[in-house]
Amino acid sequence: MHEFKDRTAVITGAASGIGLALAQRAAREGMRLVLADIDEAKLAEVARTLPLPPDALLARRVDVSREADIAALAEEAFDRFGAVHLLCNNAGVGLTRLSWELTTADWEWILGVNLWSVVHAIHHFVPRMLAQEGESHVVNTASVAGLLSTPAMAAYNVSKHGVVTLSETLYTELAAQNARIGVSVLCPAWVPTAIHTSERNRQERFGTAEPPSAASAAYHERLSHAVKSGRLTADDMANAVFDAVAEKRFYIIPHSRIKQAVRLRMEDILEDRNPTPI
Ligand SMILES: NC(=O)c1ccc[n+]([C@@H]2O[C@H](COP(=O)([O-])OP(=O)(O)OC[C@H]3O[C@@H](n4cnc5c(N)ncnc54)[C@H](O)[C@@H]3O)[C@@H](O)[C@H]2O)c1
Repeated sequence: MHEFKDRTAVITGAASGIGLALAQRAAREGMRLVLADIDEAKLAEVARTLPLPPDALLARRVDVSREADIAALAEEAFDRFGAVHLLCNNAGVGLTRLSWELTTADWEWILGVNLWSVVHAIHHFVPRMLAQEGESHVVNTASVAGLLSTPAMAAYNVSKHGVVTLSETLYTELAAQNARIGVSVLCPAWVPTAIHTSERNRQERFGTAEPPSAASAAYHERLSHAVKSGRLTADDMANAVFDAVAEKRFYIIPHSRIKQAVRLRMEDILEDRNPTPI
Protein backbone atom coordinates (compact mmCIF):
# COMPACT_ATOMS: atom_id res chain seq x y z
CA MET A 1 0.00 0.00 0.00
CA HIS A 2 1.64 3.25 -1.15
CA GLU A 3 -1.12 5.77 -0.64
CA PHE A 4 -1.73 6.83 2.94
CA LYS A 5 -3.39 10.22 2.57
CA ASP A 6 -7.10 10.26 3.49
CA ARG A 7 -6.94 6.55 4.37
CA THR A 8 -7.80 5.27 7.84
CA ALA A 9 -5.39 3.80 10.38
CA VAL A 10 -6.35 1.99 13.59
CA ILE A 11 -3.53 1.89 16.15
CA THR A 12 -3.67 0.18 19.55
CA GLY A 13 -1.35 1.17 22.38
CA ALA A 14 -1.27 4.65 20.82
CA ALA A 15 -0.74 6.60 24.06
CA SER A 16 2.96 5.78 24.43
CA GLY A 17 6.13 4.59 22.76
CA ILE A 18 5.91 2.83 19.40
CA GLY A 19 2.11 3.25 19.11
CA LEU A 20 2.42 6.98 19.69
CA ALA A 21 5.17 7.22 17.06
CA LEU A 22 2.98 5.26 14.61
CA ALA A 23 0.10 7.69 15.29
CA GLN A 24 2.35 10.73 14.75
CA ARG A 25 3.72 9.32 11.48
CA ALA A 26 0.22 8.40 10.28
CA ALA A 27 -1.01 11.92 11.10
CA ARG A 28 1.90 13.41 9.13
CA GLU A 29 0.87 11.20 6.20
CA GLY A 30 -2.60 12.79 6.32
CA MET A 31 -4.38 9.65 7.50
CA ARG A 32 -7.58 9.55 9.53
CA LEU A 33 -6.89 7.96 12.88
CA VAL A 34 -8.63 5.61 15.26
CA LEU A 35 -6.45 5.46 18.36
CA ALA A 36 -6.97 3.00 21.19
CA ASP A 37 -5.32 2.60 24.57
CA ILE A 38 -6.19 1.53 28.08
CA ASP A 39 -4.65 4.75 29.44
CA GLU A 40 -7.51 7.11 28.66
CA ALA A 41 -5.94 10.28 30.08
CA LYS A 42 -2.68 9.87 28.21
CA LEU A 43 -4.52 9.00 25.00
CA ALA A 44 -6.62 12.17 25.29
CA GLU A 45 -3.41 14.18 25.73
CA VAL A 46 -1.93 12.52 22.62
CA ALA A 47 -5.10 13.22 20.63
CA ARG A 48 -4.86 16.92 21.54
CA THR A 49 -1.29 17.19 20.24
CA LEU A 50 -1.84 15.53 16.85
CA PRO A 51 -2.09 17.91 13.88
CA LEU A 52 -5.46 16.56 12.72
CA PRO A 53 -8.93 18.08 12.33
CA PRO A 54 -11.29 16.70 15.03
CA ASP A 55 -13.42 14.89 12.45
CA ALA A 56 -10.37 12.88 11.33
CA LEU A 57 -9.64 11.42 14.76
CA LEU A 58 -11.33 8.96 17.07
CA ALA A 59 -9.64 8.16 20.40
CA ARG A 60 -11.11 5.38 22.52
CA ARG A 61 -10.31 3.71 25.82
CA VAL A 62 -9.95 0.07 24.89
CA ASP A 63 -8.68 -2.92 26.83
CA VAL A 64 -7.31 -4.94 23.91
CA SER A 65 -7.44 -8.18 25.90
CA ARG A 66 -11.26 -7.98 25.93
CA GLU A 67 -12.98 -9.20 22.79
CA ALA A 68 -16.00 -6.94 23.40
CA ASP A 69 -13.74 -3.86 23.42
CA ILE A 70 -12.08 -4.84 20.12
CA ALA A 71 -15.48 -5.67 18.57
CA ALA A 72 -16.79 -2.23 19.58
CA LEU A 73 -13.64 -0.56 18.24
CA ALA A 74 -14.06 -2.24 14.85
CA GLU A 75 -17.75 -1.36 14.75
CA GLU A 76 -17.06 2.29 15.51
CA ALA A 77 -14.08 2.59 13.13
CA PHE A 78 -16.07 1.21 10.17
CA ASP A 79 -19.20 3.21 11.10
CA ARG A 80 -17.27 6.44 11.30
CA PHE A 81 -14.80 6.11 8.41
CA GLY A 82 -16.29 3.36 6.21
CA ALA A 83 -13.03 1.43 5.83
CA VAL A 84 -9.79 0.58 7.64
CA HIS A 85 -6.64 0.64 5.51
CA LEU A 86 -3.93 0.21 8.11
CA LEU A 87 -4.52 -1.88 11.25
CA CYS A 88 -1.65 -1.72 13.77
CA ASN A 89 -2.10 -4.25 16.55
CA ASN A 90 0.58 -2.77 18.74
CA ALA A 91 -0.44 -2.63 22.42
CA GLY A 92 1.73 -4.85 24.57
CA VAL A 93 3.02 -5.51 28.08
CA GLY A 94 5.89 -7.41 29.66
CA LEU A 95 6.98 -8.78 33.02
CA THR A 96 10.46 -10.02 33.91
CA ARG A 97 10.29 -13.17 36.01
CA LEU A 98 11.89 -16.60 35.94
CA SER A 99 9.42 -19.06 34.40
CA TRP A 100 8.58 -20.76 37.68
CA GLU A 101 7.81 -17.44 39.39
CA LEU A 102 5.16 -16.38 36.88
CA THR A 103 1.65 -16.85 38.26
CA THR A 104 -1.43 -17.88 36.27
CA ALA A 105 -2.63 -14.26 36.52
CA ASP A 106 0.69 -13.02 35.10
CA TRP A 107 0.34 -15.42 32.15
CA GLU A 108 -3.29 -14.45 31.58
CA TRP A 109 -2.45 -10.73 31.63
CA ILE A 110 0.46 -10.99 29.22
CA LEU A 111 -1.16 -13.47 26.82
CA GLY A 112 -4.40 -11.44 26.98
CA VAL A 113 -2.82 -8.11 26.05
CA ASN A 114 -0.13 -9.37 23.66
CA LEU A 115 -1.71 -12.35 21.90
CA TRP A 116 -5.49 -12.52 22.42
CA SER A 117 -5.67 -8.86 21.35
CA VAL A 118 -4.34 -9.81 17.91
CA VAL A 119 -6.62 -12.86 17.72
CA HIS A 120 -9.63 -10.63 18.45
CA ALA A 121 -8.55 -7.91 16.02
CA ILE A 122 -8.08 -10.38 13.17
CA HIS A 123 -11.53 -11.82 13.83
CA HIS A 124 -13.31 -8.46 14.01
CA PHE A 125 -11.40 -6.37 11.45
CA VAL A 126 -10.18 -8.69 8.69
CA PRO A 127 -13.59 -9.86 7.38
CA ARG A 128 -14.63 -6.20 7.03
CA MET A 129 -11.31 -5.34 5.37
CA LEU A 130 -11.83 -8.23 2.93
CA ALA A 131 -15.23 -6.79 2.03
CA GLN A 132 -14.00 -3.23 1.42
CA GLU A 133 -12.60 -1.77 -1.81
CA GLY A 134 -8.87 -1.31 -2.44
CA GLU A 135 -5.70 -2.20 -0.61
CA SER A 136 -5.18 -2.45 3.12
CA HIS A 137 -2.53 -3.74 5.51
CA VAL A 138 -2.30 -5.39 8.94
CA VAL A 139 0.82 -4.75 11.05
CA ASN A 140 1.23 -6.80 14.21
CA THR A 141 3.85 -5.68 16.72
CA ALA A 142 5.65 -8.78 17.96
CA SER A 143 9.29 -8.51 19.11
CA VAL A 144 12.61 -10.26 18.64
CA ALA A 145 11.21 -12.15 21.65
CA GLY A 146 9.01 -13.81 19.02
CA LEU A 147 12.15 -15.17 17.33
CA LEU A 148 14.39 -15.83 20.35
CA SER A 149 14.01 -17.23 23.89
CA THR A 150 15.52 -14.66 26.26
CA PRO A 151 15.62 -15.75 29.95
CA ALA A 152 13.11 -14.39 32.52
CA MET A 153 10.62 -13.45 29.80
CA ALA A 154 8.71 -16.72 29.32
CA ALA A 155 5.17 -15.33 29.09
CA TYR A 156 6.32 -12.46 26.90
CA ASN A 157 8.33 -14.82 24.65
CA VAL A 158 5.37 -17.21 24.29
CA SER A 159 3.00 -14.33 23.47
CA LYS A 160 5.33 -12.86 20.86
CA HIS A 161 6.13 -16.24 19.26
CA GLY A 162 2.34 -16.56 19.03
CA VAL A 163 2.05 -13.19 17.29
CA VAL A 164 4.78 -14.12 14.79
CA THR A 165 3.22 -17.44 13.79
CA LEU A 166 -0.30 -15.96 13.77
CA SER A 167 0.94 -13.22 11.43
CA GLU A 168 2.73 -15.71 9.17
CA THR A 169 -0.42 -17.83 9.00
CA LEU A 170 -2.61 -14.82 8.21
CA TYR A 171 -0.17 -13.72 5.50
CA THR A 172 -0.23 -17.15 3.86
CA GLU A 173 -4.02 -17.41 4.00
CA LEU A 174 -4.60 -13.96 2.51
CA ALA A 175 -1.99 -14.54 -0.21
CA ALA A 176 -3.67 -17.85 -1.14
CA GLN A 177 -6.91 -15.91 -1.69
CA ASN A 178 -5.20 -13.13 -3.69
CA ALA A 179 -6.66 -10.76 -1.11
CA ARG A 180 -5.61 -7.13 -1.29
CA ILE A 181 -4.60 -7.14 2.37
CA GLY A 182 -0.89 -7.07 3.16
CA VAL A 183 0.50 -8.33 6.46
CA SER A 184 3.69 -7.40 8.32
CA VAL A 185 5.12 -8.34 11.67
CA LEU A 186 7.29 -5.83 13.55
CA CYS A 187 10.06 -7.46 15.59
CA PRO A 188 12.07 -4.80 17.44
CA ALA A 189 14.89 -5.44 19.92
CA TRP A 190 15.37 -2.74 22.58
CA VAL A 191 13.58 0.58 22.03
CA PRO A 192 13.49 3.33 24.70
CA THR A 193 9.79 3.41 25.62
CA ALA A 194 7.83 2.74 28.82
CA ILE A 195 7.60 -1.06 28.19
CA HIS A 196 9.74 -1.85 31.28
CA THR A 197 7.03 -0.23 33.45
CA SER A 198 4.14 -2.19 31.91
CA GLU A 199 2.61 -3.00 35.28
CA ARG A 200 1.39 0.60 35.45
CA ASN A 201 -1.42 -0.51 33.14
CA ARG A 202 -2.16 -3.94 34.59
CA GLN A 203 -5.93 -4.33 34.86
CA GLU A 204 -7.39 -4.98 38.33
CA ARG A 205 -8.81 -8.34 37.32
CA PHE A 206 -5.27 -9.71 36.95
CA GLY A 207 -4.18 -8.54 40.43
CA THR A 208 -0.60 -7.43 40.95
CA ALA A 209 2.59 -9.39 40.38
CA GLU A 210 4.23 -11.04 43.35
CA PRO A 211 7.56 -9.53 44.45
CA PRO A 212 10.40 -10.87 42.29
CA SER A 213 13.21 -13.07 43.61
CA ALA A 214 16.68 -11.52 43.63
CA ALA A 215 17.43 -13.33 40.36
CA SER A 216 14.29 -12.02 38.64
CA ALA A 217 14.95 -8.51 39.97
CA ALA A 218 18.46 -8.63 38.52
CA TYR A 219 17.05 -9.69 35.12
CA HIS A 220 14.55 -6.82 35.34
CA GLU A 221 17.35 -4.33 36.04
CA ARG A 222 19.25 -5.60 33.02
CA LEU A 223 16.16 -5.43 30.80
CA SER A 224 15.29 -1.89 31.96
CA HIS A 225 18.84 -0.77 31.22
CA ALA A 226 18.72 -2.39 27.77
CA VAL A 227 15.37 -0.72 26.97
CA LYS A 228 16.55 2.71 28.15
CA SER A 229 19.79 2.49 26.18
CA GLY A 230 18.19 1.19 22.96
CA ARG A 231 19.80 3.08 20.06
CA LEU A 232 16.85 2.97 17.66
CA THR A 233 13.88 5.08 18.69
CA ALA A 234 10.12 4.61 18.54
CA ASP A 235 10.16 6.99 15.54
CA ASP A 236 12.64 4.65 13.82
CA MET A 237 10.14 1.79 14.39
CA ALA A 238 7.29 3.83 12.89
CA ASN A 239 9.39 4.75 9.87
CA ALA A 240 10.39 1.10 9.40
CA VAL A 241 6.70 0.11 9.53
CA PHE A 242 5.64 2.65 6.91
CA ASP A 243 8.54 1.63 4.63
CA ALA A 244 7.58 -2.04 4.95
CA VAL A 245 3.89 -1.36 4.28
CA ALA A 246 4.80 0.61 1.14
CA GLU A 247 7.10 -2.24 0.02
CA LYS A 248 4.64 -4.99 1.07
CA ARG A 249 7.41 -6.52 3.19
CA PHE A 250 6.37 -9.04 5.85
CA TYR A 251 9.25 -9.17 8.34
CA ILE A 252 10.25 -5.84 9.91
CA ILE A 253 13.42 -6.33 11.94
CA PRO A 254 14.89 -2.84 12.37
CA HIS A 255 17.75 -3.96 14.66
CA SER A 256 19.57 -5.85 11.93
CA ARG A 257 22.42 -7.12 14.15
CA ILE A 258 19.97 -9.25 16.16
CA LYS A 259 19.51 -11.42 13.05
CA GLN A 260 22.79 -13.13 13.99
CA ALA A 261 21.15 -14.47 17.17
CA VAL A 262 18.07 -15.56 15.18
CA ARG A 263 20.32 -17.38 12.70
CA LEU A 264 22.15 -19.13 15.55
CA ARG A 265 18.85 -20.23 17.09
CA MET A 266 17.66 -21.64 13.75
CA GLU A 267 20.99 -23.45 13.30
CA ASP A 268 20.67 -24.91 16.82
CA ILE A 269 17.31 -26.34 15.77
CA LEU A 270 18.41 -27.60 12.37
CA GLU A 271 21.66 -29.11 13.65
CA ASP A 272 20.13 -30.77 16.72
CA ARG A 273 22.20 -28.62 19.10
CA ASN A 274 20.99 -27.56 22.52
CA PRO A 275 19.90 -23.87 22.73
CA THR A 276 22.85 -21.45 22.73
CA PRO A 277 22.47 -19.13 25.77
CA ILE A 278 21.62 -15.50 24.94
N1 LIG B 1 10.23 -1.09 23.69
C1 LIG B 1 10.80 -2.20 23.33
O1 LIG B 1 12.00 -2.43 23.60
C2 LIG B 1 10.01 -3.24 22.55
C3 LIG B 1 10.72 -4.28 21.93
C4 LIG B 1 10.01 -5.22 21.22
C5 LIG B 1 8.64 -5.15 21.10
N2 LIG B 1 7.97 -4.13 21.73
C6 LIG B 1 6.51 -4.11 21.60
O2 LIG B 1 6.10 -2.84 21.14
C7 LIG B 1 4.72 -2.64 21.50
C8 LIG B 1 4.56 -1.25 22.06
O3 LIG B 1 5.24 -1.17 23.29
P1 LIG B 1 6.13 0.10 23.70
O4 LIG B 1 7.54 -0.36 23.73
O5 LIG B 1 5.76 1.26 22.91
O6 LIG B 1 5.68 0.24 25.24
P2 LIG B 1 4.82 1.38 25.99
O7 LIG B 1 4.59 0.85 27.36
O8 LIG B 1 5.53 2.68 25.86
O9 LIG B 1 3.47 1.44 25.17
C9 LIG B 1 2.51 0.40 25.26
C10 LIG B 1 1.11 1.00 25.20
O10 LIG B 1 0.16 -0.08 25.29
C11 LIG B 1 -0.88 0.32 26.17
N3 LIG B 1 -1.56 -0.84 26.75
C12 LIG B 1 -1.13 -1.67 27.74
N4 LIG B 1 -2.08 -2.57 28.05
C13 LIG B 1 -3.15 -2.30 27.26
C14 LIG B 1 -4.43 -2.88 27.12
N5 LIG B 1 -4.83 -3.92 27.88
N6 LIG B 1 -5.28 -2.36 26.20
C15 LIG B 1 -4.91 -1.29 25.44
N7 LIG B 1 -3.70 -0.69 25.53
C16 LIG B 1 -2.83 -1.20 26.44
C17 LIG B 1 -0.17 1.16 27.23
O11 LIG B 1 -1.07 1.99 27.95
C18 LIG B 1 0.83 1.93 26.39
O12 LIG B 1 0.29 3.17 25.96
C19 LIG B 1 4.38 -3.77 22.47
O13 LIG B 1 3.64 -4.77 21.80
C20 LIG B 1 5.74 -4.29 22.89
O14 LIG B 1 5.68 -5.64 23.30
C21 LIG B 1 8.62 -3.18 22.45
